[in-house]
Amino acid sequence: MKIKRKNILKIAIDSPAAAGAGTVAKTISKHYNLFYLDTGKIYRFIAYLKLKFPNKFNQSFIKHEIKFLKINNLSNKNLLSDEISTEASQIAKIKSIRKLVHSIQLNFAYNPPKKYAGSCLDGRDITYKIVPDADFKFYITANTKTRALRRYKELVKLKKKITYDEVLKSIKKRDKNDLNRTISPLKKTKDSLLINTTNLTKRACFLKIKKIIDNKIKINGNL
Ligand code: C5P
Repeated sequence: MKIKRKNILKIAIDSPAAAGAGTVAKTISKHYNLFYLDTGKIYRFIAYLKLKFPNKFNQSFIKHEIKFLKINNLSNKNLLSDEISTEASQIAKIKSIRKLVHSIQLNFAYNPPKKYAGSCLDGRDITYKIVPDADFKFYITANTKTRALRRYKELVKLKKKITYDEVLKSIKKRDKNDLNRTISPLKKTKDSLLINTTNLTKRACFLKIKKIIDNKIKINGNL
């Protein structure tokens, strides 16, 4: 990382799949004018490369493709398929791939574009590996069935042919992978605040987090 911007607000969020972290992170980022990065999308993009170009898929190919990756490319709806979710959690176990992804994340976390007052990243290892000195750390979760139902509804909206049971199975498999892998597993750090969204609306979740942030800002002045 070449440059670290000073006095920026940094928010780090970790969460299991489909817990609502992305939705609230986007709203929070908009509210506080923060640059938002959904780090899972980078792993998804690499998974997409693996599925689309299986014969070319190696470290230098990934490096090359990532170099030309634009943030806008990450909002491609194709990255949301269940096939890509499963593949992403497989490739996320590979040390060399994580290393590549880490450098991109560090850059966005510590040197977000000038027009933003800071950064907000969500993923699996953000609170303890990527932005350990974040001003705010959250671990956002919800029970497995609720998460599966949310993801199922999202996929139906995208016209994907999949059943609720298939989504549930895939989420459980991903949880197992993400929680038990040796490199950068998903975990709640002691200094992260737990937010359970099972019975929270999107708005209630936003307000809960906003209150925590505003209270600390009030006490400490500008952070
Ligand atoms: O968050 P999302 O469901 O899009 O992430 C897809 C996969 O990418 C996860 O299941 C996880 O294995 C991996 N991931 C990761 N570290 C991150 C973000 C995502 O290992 N910081």
